[in-house]
Amino acid sequence: MGRAFTAATLLLLLGALGAATANVGDSCSTSADCGAGQWCFDCEPKLSGSHCVRSAATNPFQLINNSLPFNKYAYLTTHNSYAIVGEPSHTGIPRITFDNQEDTVTDQLNNGVRALMLDTYDFKGDVWLCHSSGGKCNDFTAFEPALDTFQEIEAFLSANPSEIVTIILEDYVHAPNGLTNVFNTSGLLKYWFPVSKMPQNGQDWPLVSDMVASNQRLLVFTSISSKQSTEGIAYQWNFMVENNYGDDGMDAGKCSNRAESAPLSDKTKSLVLMNYFPSVPIKFTACLQHSQSLTDMVNTCYGAAGNRWANFIAVDYYKRSDGGGVFQSTDLLNGRLLCGCQDIRACLPGSGVVCSA
Ligand SMILES: *[C@@H]1O[C@H](CO)[C@@H](O)[C@H](O)[C@H]1NC(C)=O
Ligand SMILES: *[C@@H]1O[C@H](CO)[C@@H](O)[C@H](O)[C@H]1NC(C)=O
Repeated sequence: MGRAFTAATLLLLLGALGAATANVGDSCSTSADCGAGQWCFDCEPKLSGSHCVRSAATNPFQLINNSLPFNKYAYLTTHNSYAIVGEPSHTGIPRITFDNQEDTVTDQLNNGVRALMLDTYDFKGDVWLCHSSGGKCNDFTAFEPALDTFQEIEAFLSANPSEIVTIILEDYVHAPNGLTNVFNTSGLLKYWFPVSKMPQNGQDWPLVSDMVASNQRLLVFTSISSKQSTEGIAYQWNFMVENNYGDDGMDAGKCSNRAESAPLSDKTKSLVLMNYFPSVPIKFTACLQHSQSLTDMVNTCYGAAGNRWANFIAVDYYKRSDGGGVFQSTDLLNGRLLCGCQDIRACLPGSGVVCSA
């Protein structure tokens, strides 16, 4: 017993040491060869062979503090978070549509994703997450009942009482109170951040620490304007500016608003969302896009937004990169937002780096 324990402890220690010495960019054959917050990934044709790349975000509330307004931080965002490779059919009909992510919403949240883009539809007398066209969900485009995903989010908020999650809905639900009922059934309503507390004229948001203390840790935005008055669900573009999505949002050097959004420079909206994913999601090019061109777009959108750094950065296949990927871009944004530096780690007291906000 004693010896077995010692041997097991030694193995654990060696494992931890091995992991601690692996760096982003090192060769690997499995993710066990890589450090914490990394996975083993092959970004062909940019790099040949598999390398350790980042797989988890830095938590700004933990690393720095949570005493600033909500709009002074950046949040990693997954586009079509529910459209997951290999999600089994929930309708009995094989699915024929695109996917945008590769791990579960629970894993996304545990890896530091803090905003989820979900497409909600009336379907089968309920609300479903669906990747469809014309506002109508079909058996072959349906992913799963919204309740399943909302319950995953509820479990995360319950287990992580200092975290805030934002849901951005591309909303096709027209059933009266359809969404409210699912939020209620899932247990998410108790975390609801009320529209009445959202700033209307470019003021700062409440402090994260206050949102945590009041347990109002779920922000929900809908694309249907009437729901703000009927169901108390914030109309996204009353509070946020957003650049084009799809290929139009990836045109180097350009960052302009999508049709529904005010111009990015409109400072009456206190939040800035940057999309960076192609019109048709392609797994094999994602890691090439999650590199310098992503950082370049972060800077382009900063200028377009009237010298404001994005709060939300939305991508497909968020873990694919040639090294730092969207995690590095989020660290850049938080560095800029929190202390004017190029990386959030430089904001740590005693880092010795002096940057200007
Ligand atoms: C939520 O569900 C409870 C229990 O069914 C119900 O009493 C309450 O009115 C619901 N709240 C909303 C806002 O629908
Ligand atoms: C939290 O961090 C920010 C950014 O570094 C800093 O300006 C602020 O003073 C800190 N607040 C507290 C209470 O430590």
